[in-house]
Amino acid sequence: MQILDGKALGKEIQEEVKLEVEKLSKKPHLAVILAGENPASKIYVNTKNKTCERLGIKSTVINLPENVTEFELKSKIRELNVDDEINAILVQLPLPAHINESECIKEISPIKDVDGFTPENLGALVSGKTPFAYPCTPSGIITLLKRNNIQISGKHAVVIGRSNIVGKPLSLMLLKENATVTMCHSKTKNLSEITKTADILISATGKRIVTKDMVKNSAVVVDVGIIRNSEGKLEGDVDFEQVKDTASYITPVPGGVGPMTIASLMKNTLELFLKQNK
Ligand code: GUN
Repeated sequence: MQILDGKALGKEIQEEVKLEVEKLSKKPHLAVILAGENPASKIYVNTKNKTCERLGIKSTVINLPENVTEFELKSKIRELNVDDEINAILVQLPLPAHINESECIKEISPIKDVDGFTPENLGALVSGKTPFAYPCTPSGIITLLKRNNIQISGKHAVVIGRSNIVGKPLSLMLLKENATVTMCHSKTKNLSEITKTADILISATGKRIVTKDMVKNSAVVVDVGIIRNSEGKLEGDVDFEQVKDTASYITPVPGGVGPMTIASLMKNTLELFLKQNK
């Protein structure tokens, strides 16, 4: 078994971005909107901010109160859309419950949509065209596989979870890489029968569901879950101890997909900047 070390590869990609940024006279600038007090979101946004700083990317965090109106949030996005100093916009999800997420995402200018979540960018992905940016977590996973020389083309990839942030775009990106893709979710019947046929098994549910009997011998296992267990330790969807001897490659939690997401965000910010300054 080999560990897919996202922490090490994430650092490597960050270094590559840093070197590119050093060559630029004007620096890329990421704006992050954080609405409300979600503790996990605060930690993520803080990490993004610090990483930007280290790579020479400018970053601005816009904190909005929990009770911000949808109108105010959209106005903020529109302001950033026309601000020439801002190259990339990220609206941290989830938004407070009274706000319609997709209505807000729709407001982001596609060329500044660093998550690739706008209808235009998702539409490009669905229709096999090139979006301005690909969603960060799926993009990080594809990079993690490719840079470890894991073949995707022709393989059976099974994705558990159909979220707009991970499962859905990831399935499309694997398809683009010529995998045969099966999408599974909470209503899937005979889940383990399907997962046992996966060459590449990716779990993105936030629930501890992947056990040894669900994994084919020598499968590549990618764990997108981040769960705090009863002892307060972080773990993933996959029972790592059980599965590690069955898998050929496996991502740890933490230190697998998480750092790759941040690295993709940095790369996307740089690339949007370059596209806007051609
Ligand atoms: N919340 C959890 N993951 C993400 C992500 O990739 N982008 C945004 N905007 N919010 C998130």
